[in-house]
Amino acid sequence: MDPVRNPYAPGAGQRPPELAGRDRELQQFEVVLERVARGRPERSMVITGLRGVGKTVLLNTFKSMAIQRLWGTGKIEARPEQSIRRPVAAALHMAVRELAPRHRAPERIDEFLGVLKAFAMRDPSAAKGTTHWSPGIDVPAARGRADSGDLEIDLTELLSDAAGVATDLGVGIALFIDEMQDVPAADISALCAACHELSQIGGPLIVVGAGLPHLPSVLSASKSYSERLFRYARIDRLDREAADLALIVPAEEEGVAFTSDALDALYEAADGYPYFVQAYGKVAWDLAPRSPITAEDIKVSAPEAEEELAVGFFGSRYERATPAERDYMHAMAQLGDDPVATAEVAEALGRKPSSLSPARDSLIKKGLIYSAERGLIAFTVPHFGRFLRAQPV
Ligand SMILES: Nc1ncnc2c1ncn2[C@@H]1O[C@H](COP(=O)(O)OP(=O)(O)OP(=O)(O)O)[C@@H](O)[C@H]1O
Ligand SMILES: [Mg+2]
Repeated sequence: MDPVRNPYAPGAGQRPPELAGRDRELQQFEVVLERVARGRPERSMVITGLRGVGKTVLLNTFKSMAIQRLWGTGKIEARPEQSIRRPVAAALHMAVRELAPRHRAPERIDEFLGVLKAFAMRDPSAAKGTTHWSPGIDVPAARGRADSGDLEIDLTELLSDAAGVATDLGVGIALFIDEMQDVPAADISALCAACHELSQIGGPLIVVGAGLPHLPSVLSASKSYSERLFRYARIDRLDREAADLALIVPAEEEGVAFTSDALDALYEAADGYPYFVQAYGKVAWDLAPRSPITAEDIKVSAPEAEEELAVGFFGSRYERATPAERDYMHAMAQLGDDPVATAEVAEALGRKPSSLSPARDSLIKKGLIYSAERGLIAFTVPHFGRFLRAQPV
């Protein structure tokens, strides 16, 4: 059928034509926004899940919800070994720029921007002697606030000042952090402490995170009270009903239908994983001669969809691993699709567990595997084991 009208959207962070199966999370976030705006004590949200389940898309939807309530919003994507100081400064700059036109006291905004600039310029990784900060804030940097160099103190001061600006307007500020598991440990700890402080003074600013399934344990290793700061929402594969909706609703808008056999076949192939739903849906649409799309069309199109996934979804990640890391993952894949014991991987490779720690740690850092619980590891990418078993070693 006409590829121009193809509604499906496989791709990182690509907004799906129909956000299926996430009503509970959306409702929970509505409540968070409402309560925070009213100064009620409330835990913020952290979304976790495997690769391609729709964390970024959900985070972006949350952001739109906050914007709709006239909140100021900013978003960062954490990177390993990169301090969050500058990205957070830039994100809060965006958030306050959203609020500034409605604020009746421009000097309050300037005052905040002065603190923001001082905060950003304290970046230890910036070249010595650089006094300007590229996004260009016209006011001079403030002195004696958010500029101590201790991220915990500085973040606490900066976030509470930002919350103050939002309070003036009767709204809030939401700071979104994608790939939150990659925030360096020291920064995570500072961020949790700042959020903790803010929740105690009832400031209307929340940090909303998204990351891989081990993010809750990263947070609680850093601050034991993190469970009281965040409500964890683990998102997963779509159930049959939601997966069908994700396919049917956008098609209907184009006057296209699926036979029920076709939906059976698609669920079997995509296994409810949002990225796969979009990928199989897209190819099936392009190759089907006419509506309704049939089980036969799915059968014909599946190899092409699989090929695209093998290159774009699995292959691009496999490429990031070194030969030693690949050996490690192949050994994992041979042990099945459930989380496996690191000791078993070592045994399968005929090596001492300690000698494999570097490979394991760097795979975790690259976001390809995660520690499901102590001593157990699993792939972050759904169906990765299956993909590896089909690879020549
Ligand atoms: N609820 C949903 N219904 C239908 N499709 C969805 C849904 N959520 C996400 N998708 C689709 O799934 C794909 C992956 O989404 P997204 O990039 O948000 O996943 P992710 O969890 O952030 O992955 P990663 O861990 O790799 O960053 C996108 O193509 C998106 O359109
Ligand atoms: Mg993402």
